[in-house]
Amino acid sequence: MHELPFSQACENNKHIILEILERHLKDGDQVLELAGGTGQHCVHFAANLPNLHWQSSDIPSNVDNLNLRLADAKLANLPAAITIDVNHPVWSSDRPTAIFSANSLHIMSADSVENFFKGIGEALQADGTLIVYGPFKYAGEFTSESNEGFDRWLKDRDPASGVRDFERVSKLATKANLTLIEDNAMPANNQLLVWKKSK
Ligand SMILES: C[S@@+](CC[C@H](N)C(=O)[O-])C[C@H]1O[C@@H](n2cnc3c(N)ncnc32)[C@H](O)[C@@H]1O
Repeated sequence: MHELPFSQACENNKHIILEILERHLKDGDQVLELAGGTGQHCVHFAANLPNLHWQSSDIPSNVDNLNLRLADAKLANLPAAITIDVNHPVWSSDRPTAIFSANSLHIMSADSVENFFKGIGEALQADGTLIVYGPFKYAGEFTSESNEGFDRWLKDRDPASGVRDFERVSKLATKANLTLIEDNAMPANNQLLVWKKSK
């Protein structure tokens, strides 16, 4: 029996993220999650939003780990996670009505962040919703000292990673036909950004 992957941060933030998802997602939505991680988010969201279909995904090296938790949860609206690396030119043949991703942009390289938005521009249905959770810098400034320390820690680990500039991400989103409709300040110096794709 494998131990399930676990992140304390996911336990702490999943309730408040769900409150915002409830405002933006609707029954029948086909949600694609990028960078599903431990699966704690998708299990919590799919269990609490049973009338939508939640397809989680992660890169090949993490998808089996993610699937341990999904198999344990056995939810009808949460199939096994699929493999998606945002750098791969084609993600899947499905066209989701919503895309969710948490704590992924600061882990990826700047080129991967570009591919993340390029892929979303191609995959997301017209009028679809993109919801992204994580830390951001605004006008070059961190929103807290702890985020600045987090950025240093990330870069020591992987110089290509780091807390992303909101303005840069906004430009990439605009190029992908997305319009920002909400920027929610969240606990622990994170943001939850919501975009709508044009019709
Ligand atoms: C810090 S974890 C966040 C996981 C989870 N979403 C959470 O909030 O706890 C970063 C995730 O990004 C994924 N990731 C890294 N590079 C990626 C890529 N090129 N394409 C898709 N996912 C990627 C990792 O496998 C990992 O699951």
